[in-house]
Amino acid sequence: MADFVGAVDQGTTSTRFMIFDHGGNEIARYQLEHEQILPQAGWVEHNPLEIWERTRAVIETTLNRANLTASDLAALGITNQRETTVVWNRITGRPYYNAIVWQDTRTDRIAAALDRDGRGDVIRRKAGLPPATYFSAGKIQWILENVDGVRKAAEAGDAIFGNTDTWLLWNFTGGTDGGVHVTDPTNASRTMLMDLETLEWDDELLSFFGIPRRMLPQIRPSSNPDLYGVTRRYGPLKGEVPLSGDLGDQQAATVGQVCFEVGEAKNTYGTGNFLLLNTGHELVRSKNGLLTTVCYQFGADRPVYALEGSIAVTGSAVQWLRDQLGIISGAAESEALARQVDDNGGVYFVPAFSGLFAPYWRSDARGAIVGLSRFNTNAHIARATLEAICYQTRDVVEAMHSDSGVTLDVLRVDGGVTANDLCMQIQADILGVPVSKPVVAETTALGAAYAAGLALGFWQSTDGLKQNWNEAQRWQPRWTDEERARGYAGWKKAVERTLNWVDV
Ligand code: G3P
Repeated sequence: MADFVGAVDQGTTSTRFMIFDHGGNEIARYQLEHEQILPQAGWVEHNPLEIWERTRAVIETTLNRANLTASDLAALGITNQRETTVVWNRITGRPYYNAIVWQDTRTDRIAAALDRDGRGDVIRRKAGLPPATYFSAGKIQWILENVDGVRKAAEAGDAIFGNTDTWLLWNFTGGTDGGVHVTDPTNASRTMLMDLETLEWDDELLSFFGIPRRMLPQIRPSSNPDLYGVTRRYGPLKGEVPLSGDLGDQQAATVGQVCFEVGEAKNTYGTGNFLLLNTGHELVRSKNGLLTTVCYQFGADRPVYALEGSIAVTGSAVQWLRDQLGIISGAAESEALARQVDDNGGVYFVPAFSGLFAPYWRSDARGAIVGLSRFNTNAHIARATLEAICYQTRDVVEAMHSDSGVTLDVLRVDGGVTANDLCMQIQADILGVPVSKPVVAETTALGAAYAAGLALGFWQSTDGLKQNWNEAQRWQPRWTDEERARGYAGWKKAVERTLNWVDV
């Protein structure tokens, strides 16, 4: 068997390719950004053809740099930004419209209507999700209703839907030349169209959005010994590599962090924050604003579920300081600026730019900076931004405790913001539990590689993978309980100020 496994991580802002060895060590990587298309307020799109081009380019460059070829790869795994919706023509391979990204809020009226006539509760029960603009179904409905010719083509079986995992798998295995049309249960569980218990598309849910069943991909296990397919020889790998792993990116990070036991959780800090708690084979239904989602399904094993707290704006709030306010010139500077002050000086920033996701699910909320006095400076705003990242995580951890009874004794973290030492210290202070970061911080790509490699015996078992996890850094809480309680009370008051701001 070949010595390495490859993984494509198709994310919201960039696409990367990584190669790992048996020890889960990184051998090589390359990454490229793609354009964020913002046609009007609240709309966010990507060009699917650009995403495929970027995927080709990062694979070619990584293999060249590492001096490896397809024959060095035992398997290939895919992981992806979830919910983002692509509809394309099965015969020509041309997308009918740009990909509508998970952050896009154009479907706010479609989502709001679901709770007026009882459909929302059916979605909560069957799909485990609150009706929201976030998920794929409303985006598919929007394309069916607003793009010429798509409804007719969908009914004829020619217009097909996929998240970006499905789009890449289709292109890897043939594209216009008869690609496979498949996904996995973690991605399917983010559409509002899959029944969480059967792991099948549900006709009643499909009828809520007027989506023809023929548009949807086949749902296959996340780690798939039967393979989704093999890469075609004339594709970017220039050889046949088994495609055997597919996971939504947050679930992939959970696998990469080896959270295989009930009660284990990880928090990924990217554009947004996503905290997933493994609940095992039990489907825990949230009463506190969390999502119930599939964590992974390996081969013929029963699926493992998770509770998820999804937060839309965290790392992107730091980008906002840079791009819109211009008070920092790069993300790293947010730490230096925030370090100029000892505390937030009474300032709280609630970055509800696209409403609030978990645990509030309020699309009528908008962002606010509150508690300002003349004493405050840019440094307080920077500090309040880092605190906002951590307070939103605290909200989710509280909800998780109420839903599952699980008390975290440590929070495993990964993602870009974990490079911010001050932010991770604040996270430990605000939560009152230690925060721990692994040596291999690219847990998303690693998780996809694990799923692909487990399917084909490159790795034998999940127990074996646990040996690959090593701690790089740990932050201990320093605040007193009193400081923690006072800070959190201020945050809750600030959140109140953002609600009922816009009509939906
Ligand atoms: O649900 C959205 C999430 O999958 C996006 O993750 O890392 O691409 O921002 P990321």
